[in-house]
Amino acid sequence: MSKSTERHTRPWWRTAAIYQVYVRSFADGNGDGVGDLAGVRSRLPYLRDLGVDALWFNPWYRSPMADGGYDVADYRDIDPLFGTLAEARELIAEAHGHGLRVIVDLVPNHCSDQHRWFREALAADPGSAARERFWFTPGRGADGELPPNDWQSYFGGPAWTRTTGPDGAPGDWYLHLFAPEQPDLNWEHPEVRAEFESVLRFWLDHGVDGFRIDVAHGLAKKPGLPDVGPHPDVTDLPYQDVDAVHEVYRSWRKITDSYPDDRVFVGEVWLPTPEQFARYLRPDELHSAFNFEFLCCAWEHDAVRDVVDGTLAAHARVGAPPTWVLSNHDTIRHATRYGREDTSFDMGNKRLGAPTDRALGLRRARAAALLTMALPGGVYVYQGDELALAEVESIPDALLQDPTFVRSGGADRGRDGCRVPLPWSGTRAPFGFSPDGAADPWLPQPAAWAEQSVAAQHADPHSVLALYRDALRLRRDRLATLPETLDWLPADPGVLAFTRDGSFACLVNFTDRPLPLPPGSTPLLTSAPLQDGQLAPDACAWLDLSLPATGH
Ligand code: GLC
Repeated sequence: MSKSTERHTRPWWRTAAIYQVYVRSFADGNGDGVGDLAGVRSRLPYLRDLGVDALWFNPWYRSPMADGGYDVADYRDIDPLFGTLAEARELIAEAHGHGLRVIVDLVPNHCSDQHRWFREALAADPGSAARERFWFTPGRGADGELPPNDWQSYFGGPAWTRTTGPDGAPGDWYLHLFAPEQPDLNWEHPEVRAEFESVLRFWLDHGVDGFRIDVAHGLAKKPGLPDVGPHPDVTDLPYQDVDAVHEVYRSWRKITDSYPDDRVFVGEVWLPTPEQFARYLRPDELHSAFNFEFLCCAWEHDAVRDVVDGTLAAHARVGAPPTWVLSNHDTIRHATRYGREDTSFDMGNKRLGAPTDRALGLRRARAAALLTMALPGGVYVYQGDELALAEVESIPDALLQDPTFVRSGGADRGRDGCRVPLPWSGTRAPFGFSPDGAADPWLPQPAAWAEQSVAAQHADPHSVLALYRDALRLRRDRLATLPETLDWLPADPGVLAFTRDGSFACLVNFTDRPLPLPPGSTPLLTSAPLQDGQLAPDACAWLDLSLPATGH
């Protein structure tokens, strides 16, 4: 295919800018202090004007909210906290009307302990058919008092909980890789497979453009549920990346392919090696996946370059578009992370409360935004990234809601700090998040957010919000049609420079000295004002190499 034909036929998801809406914290329409679909609907013009192509909604289904909605009780209905199914339909239609596609979050590894299937299973006898949709099994030890194996929950503590019979006697154990309120489904069971295929069709018929798949590396378990042992091989765990999971995605891909208009999957695939990761992106499996290697990478020249190279190579092998992610609802906001001595992200060691140079974090967050948007592939914007919100580390213990806080015995303060409701306007909380007279936001907002609200940044051409708008516009107009590759340009040590097509270039200054722009280049957009025509440390520039140079 010639390049020009390729440009016109490239499907939307290969280059999309996708905005993550954490519904609970986006905008509150009904005044109960919790974000909802009415709130999202009222803010759709904001998202359209921001210039993103699609919205990914964290789970909005019926849920007891033991894990922010990742404990789904009914996959075909909206939780009353957020609204109704009719409103979701309206929202999808209105988003489409604004040219925004809609991706919903599918949670297949586990459901809620309040899901009909699990309630039936608990009420049924040990060994009964109703229990086979989950992982119920007797414990070890003389009286079955020990968990069936040594697996640990991702949220801390054993991955097993013991049931209690109607007579109060202890019974079998069930598996939950996350909270006890999130029992793992048994993907060897045909009814589990059939149910999720039906759920996919349900939402596709409602017009959604795709699915983000929660814990996509999970689902299948090694037969016999073997112990991991004292020195586990992280590339070969019995509960993640088990081969059988690929079969599930092959069957799902046939379903999305049978619908018109390019419906897609994006996988939440956290795995230790690029080889394991890329197998999920084979042409008959998922379309794309979040690039957590990039998210976790330190803000350092060599590390970033290595991850970019590794990412491009891994994706090229399977023909999938890379994605670039800086933050999400599970991680430390990058505007904070980048202001710390250690700028990498480690889920097991979040370094909450470490000393932070806020101004440095902000400079780097601005530069990183431009870098990610210049790279080939798709890009994700987590709500509040476009305002450069910081991680909120001042939430009192009593108000923390994330189950990881309690399950880790307080050792991990959890993920609430990146989930605080957005500041839209005004000088005091709730900063326009809720209507006047509403209940307090479900997590407290810092007073300093007055200066970072959407309204405060809206009119300021130098704000982060303005930078995101400008970058997303340029990216759509000019970069989305470029070849899906890059060429590194010769550059000084500590400087990252690449071109996408010989005429567009991106330059990132990781050094501590101002950097002269290359001769013959014209700046299109910079993350910090040029000083005497030079690019400041921790700044990024988009350059046009084809125009007559201006006098910088
Ligand atoms: C994913 C979600 C996270 C959730 C977990 C369990 O990692 O992103 O928020 O807690 O899955 O569903």
